[in-house]
Amino acid sequence: MKIELDGLTHRYDVDVLRDLAISIEGYSSIAIIGVSGSGKSTLLRILSGLEKPTRGHVQVNSHDVTAPEYRKSVGFVFQSHNLFPHLTLLQNITLVLEKTRGFTKKEAHEQAEKYLSLLHLSDQTHKLPRNVSGGQAQRASLARALSVNPEVIFLDEPTSALDPVLTYEVLSAIKELRELGMEFVLVSHVMSFVHDFADYVVFMKDGEIAEHGPPAMLDNPQTQALKDFMEKVP
Ligand SMILES: Nc1ncnc2c1ncn2[C@@H]1O[C@H](COP(=O)(O)OP(=O)(O)OP(=O)(O)O)[C@@H](O)[C@H]1O
Ligand SMILES: [Mg+2]
Repeated sequence: MKIELDGLTHRYDVDVLRDLAISIEGYSSIAIIGVSGSGKSTLLRILSGLEKPTRGHVQVNSHDVTAPEYRKSVGFVFQSHNLFPHLTLLQNITLVLEKTRGFTKKEAHEQAEKYLSLLHLSDQTHKLPRNVSGGQAQRASLARALSVNPEVIFLDEPTSALDPVLTYEVLSAIKELRELGMEFVLVSHVMSFVHDFADYVVFMKDGEIAEHGPPAMLDNPQTQALKDFMEKVP
């Protein structure tokens, strides 16, 4: 995928992203890391079109992320699953496909079953989110994000609400999807996973990109900021 940031600044009460400029091409799984409050989620929301930047230009695969149709070409998975609680896992997906993508009932059903099966949830399709495990619910969120055939899937700490076993389960599912050729931009604080999964890493500090490069940079940080960060994270 290709990501281009030019003069990207984002302001709430203060600037939380400050004049970011970067051009990355040819990577398929990009990880954003950094301490809490450094702007990772804000950057991810802007890259996915969920939020409009205050200033600057942002392109993903040559699409302007502020274009209204861009949102339809991406998937997003949040920290904790945001499935509709009163719908089954299957209905959570078919509803989106029918209402926002114009699928017929039958097409939506087939598509939903295909992605639930890919995420090993075929035996859970008729359950409500509260009646499945956290890992299963998070995998259903992934299935829903995938079901619209997105160009890129954005994941914001998809395992932070999960215990280590469920974390492993969800991260394994994400790795399988990468093997199938799907492209990801992910915020994660699981460094072993970032190391192993990402082919490019962006390290944020205080609203700026302090260092970026292939994951080998984690073993040999060039900036004091990344050195300090790597010493503190497990
Ligand atoms: N909707 C908002 N309104 C005002 N300030 C916000 C809003 N969202 C985020 N911020 C501020 O922007 C800064 C960056 O937040 P962001 O959520 O991007 O950080 P983060 O790196 O994802 O942190 P964490 O690791 O804790 O998730 C923080 O100082 C935060 O308080
Ligand atoms: Mg965040």
